[in-house]
Amino acid sequence: MIGLVRSSQAADAADFARLHALSFDPPWSAGEFQSWLERETTISSQVRDGSALIAFGLASAAGDDVDLLTIMSHPAARRSGAARMVLRTMTHQAASRGLVRWVLEVARDNDPARALYVAEGFREIGVRRGYYRRGEGRVDAIVMSRP
Ligand SMILES: CC(C)(COP(=O)(O)OP(=O)(O)OC[C@H]1O[C@@H](n2cnc3c(N)ncnc32)[C@H](O)[C@@H]1OP(=O)(O)O)[C@@H](O)C(=O)NCCC(=O)NCCS
Repeated sequence: MIGLVRSSQAADAADFARLHALSFDPPWSAGEFQSWLERETTISSQVRDGSALIAFGLASAAGDDVDLLTIMSHPAARRSGAARMVLRTMTHQAASRGLVRWVLEVARDNDPARALYVAEGFREIGVRRGYYRRGEGRVDAIVMSRP
């Protein structure tokens, strides 16, 4: 499968919010996505099948680094290479801006995301204890990086 990969615009915000709400609680609002997408420092790409949003990612330039803010694919389209394609496209976008290093945080218990990042060459560089809230408890963030 896998449709068209393209970079994102502010007009994509509502679709991003709808897809985000399928995997995250609380989800980010369309307004939050729009304000990210309007920033010069934001890097974003997406995969669509026709008009349907299959996957997207959002990252932010910080100095020479690019910080991954979020990446996700539609639950019905997982393991079809969509997130990998989004990540690779954002890597090209970041490199063309002269950014030299990816940095991201991922919840210790998020096995699919950790597997994706390891498969794409990220390595663990640290831990942020109790970084994420999970119900009543907290979960560590693993900090990962890649040139
Ligand atoms: C993590 C996530 C983005 C992966 O998206 P995806 O489109 O299914 O990933 P891909 O199909 O591109 O997978 C690429 C590689 O990552 C690894 N991978 C991805 N999901 C995996 C899983 N569930 N188990 C094991 N490996 C996995 C594999 O190496 C895979 O390659 P392969 O299928 O050839 O073996 C997706 O599961 C998701 O949207 N999760 C909810 C949101 C989330 O947690 N996002 C990350 C934190 S912001």
